[in-house]
Amino acid sequence: MTASSLAGRRIVVSAGPTFEDLDPVRFIGNRSSGRMGFAIAAAAARRGADTVLVAGPVQLATPAGVHRVDVRSAAQLRDAVLAALPADAYIGAAAVADWTPRAAAARKLKKRDGEDTLTLELVRTPDVLAEVAAHPRRPRRVVGFAAETEDLEANARAKLHAKGVDLVAGNLVGIAGGGFESERNALLVVGHDGVHALGPDTKTVLAGQLLDLVARGW
Ligand code: PMT
Repeated sequence: MTASSLAGRRIVVSAGPTFEDLDPVRFIGNRSSGRMGFAIAAAAARRGADTVLVAGPVQLATPAGVHRVDVRSAAQLRDAVLAALPADAYIGAAAVADWTPRAAAARKLKKRDGEDTLTLELVRTPDVLAEVAAHPRRPRRVVGFAAETEDLEANARAKLHAKGVDLVAGNLVGIAGGGFESERNALLVVGHDGVHALGPDTKTVLAGQLLDLVARGW
């Protein structure tokens, strides 16, 4: 398949984890390296799209031609993504935390003698993907990811409907050679008109194939 040009399109991609601070020392994070989202942003820019990459805390260089906005928390990621609209597509590859501490302590939480447990109160973060899909300036294509340890297709399809998006790229996590951190992955892309199995392959190759699906009919 010939790579579709994305000249004249604006694409917003989120990538990486979010870190939810407990105190000035500790945070709740996850294992996302940002590789999948960075590969998508790089591929979009190579195809000529005006590309905004909203990146959680990761150790990756900014791809050529990409406008990068660095964020730390889910709330910051939401604000940066919404500020980047309007766009033709939003692709949510970030592993956004579902929960955040009700309040981050201003000072380091201390261990107290005699206490063997610590109870944290967590509250839900904004669902950025669902918010973008319901936004008055909704991009024409809204694409989510589903990080799953089982039942990939059923879980991806459930997210497709629950979040009101156009495509969900399901991937297995917690396995060697795919998902988090790896250079490679495999995607089961669920849409309203069918399912596409991509890979296993490098995240760079998969990013191009995913963009082909996103841009179908443009
Ligand atoms: O970064 P890598 O190391 O390369 O790993 C890639 C990846 C495994 C992180 C990536 O391929 C991936 O699956 N990203 C989504 C991870 C995730 O948070 O999945 P989820 O099933 O919990 O979330 C579903 C969708 O909702 C995602 O598009 C997510 O960005 C979005 N979401 C989730 C929670 C939230 N509060 N806001 C969101 O927008």
